[in-house]
Amino acid sequence: MTLLVKGGRVVNPALQQDEICDILITDGKIVAVGKNLTAEGATVFDAAGLVVAPGFIDMHVHLRQPGQSAKETVVTGTRAAAAGGITRVATMPNTNPVIDKAIIVEGMKYKAEHEGVVKVEVIGAISKGLEGKELSAMGGMAKAGVVAFSDDGHYVESSDFMRKAMEYANMFHKIIIDHCEDESLVAGGQMNEGVVSAELGLKGRPAAAEDIAVARDIILSELTDTPIHIAHISTKGAVEMVRQAKAKGLKVSAEATPQHLILTDEALRSYEPRFKVNPPLRSEDHRAAVLAGVVDGTIDAIATDHAPHTWDEKDQEFSLTPSGFVGLETSVGAILTHLYHTGAADLATIVRAMSTSPARLLGLDAGVIAPGKDADLTILDLDKEWAVDSSQFYSKGKSSAFDEMLFRGKAAATIVNGEIVMKDGVVLR
Ligand code: DOR
Repeated sequence: MTLLVKGGRVVNPALQQDEICDILITDGKIVAVGKNLTAEGATVFDAAGLVVAPGFIDMHVHLRQPGQSAKETVVTGTRAAAAGGITRVATMPNTNPVIDKAIIVEGMKYKAEHEGVVKVEVIGAISKGLEGKELSAMGGMAKAGVVAFSDDGHYVESSDFMRKAMEYANMFHKIIIDHCEDESLVAGGQMNEGVVSAELGLKGRPAAAEDIAVARDIILSELTDTPIHIAHISTKGAVEMVRQAKAKGLKVSAEATPQHLILTDEALRSYEPRFKVNPPLRSEDHRAAVLAGVVDGTIDAIATDHAPHTWDEKDQEFSLTPSGFVGLETSVGAILTHLYHTGAADLATIVRAMSTSPARLLGLDAGVIAPGKDADLTILDLDKEWAVDSSQFYSKGKSSAFDEMLFRGKAAATIVNGEIVMKDGVVLR
């Protein structure tokens, strides 16, 4: 099957390319990129007026399988990804059972291959059962094809244990994706510690908890010469430490979420459980520092931490509701509205953070539009105006911090291996 994507503005930062041209795709691979391409019998996708980017990759997603299919599944989560313009996700191991051995990785990969509408990478746990006590079966999981290790949702408390985990991960050339919140400082905390938490009378989770965790793990990364990736960075201190680590040439990277780039703890004044997340929405000075980190390249990637929960779980009083909310169907709109249209970040920076850099960090042959590569493309309508309506999400999770917001910019189509899996918001399989 041949697909010709015609007349789009190709934004392809890996090759410093930003120009109007055509992309010819045959049997799932890009075969040519250039002006005035033609192909007899090809299906033509008219991309005039649209941006064509390498497929967006969300490196921090909870598909909730195995074991938590009331919250999300590979089918519903990858359909949500397709709807949002995401061509590939990496799914976290805080499932039931935890993804901490090869057989579970193999099961997930099989499921993803047969049921996924977009591509799915699997992240293995650092510790057995996420308990931070015994190392998971890292070697077997590496062989089975995990792209990284993470105890996401939990901080690895013991420094000695984390040192060993880094040494093992390094042996298998896998990064550690690090949830950085010192547990003793955040235990029982409901939101960011600050003026708003004091006024609301809710126990806070101080920024210092993240700063301490990030500092320790940068030190351990240097000691073990292991690449670490700071998940959902949210404090100005952490951003500055990553900046300094990079300046020293250390193997440290980071991701920021749309929520930490756009929202603050002021949103919590509504007491709405949909704003509860770990790490928490911070104050404006932290938000601005995270944004500055994306703009200057200190923060490599934008990832959602798509964390679906059932409606019953989220429909409880604030202190009882689990942390996290969905993000796959809102990340493109949120980022285009609040980073691109505000002039804070240019398109190349955004495409790099949502495609090229996650591909690099996870060791994937993706994130670039070039002959010979898989034809994974995200097609953007920069000016499409729309209102978020979580009741219409493909995801099972209906709790969204961006619900009812007005956005400018949306994915117009999602192409995976040359197949159009979403067009105009409708998932086609
Ligand atoms: O709020 C969160 N929810 N933060 C995490 O790190 C984990 C996630 C979840 O799995 O629900």
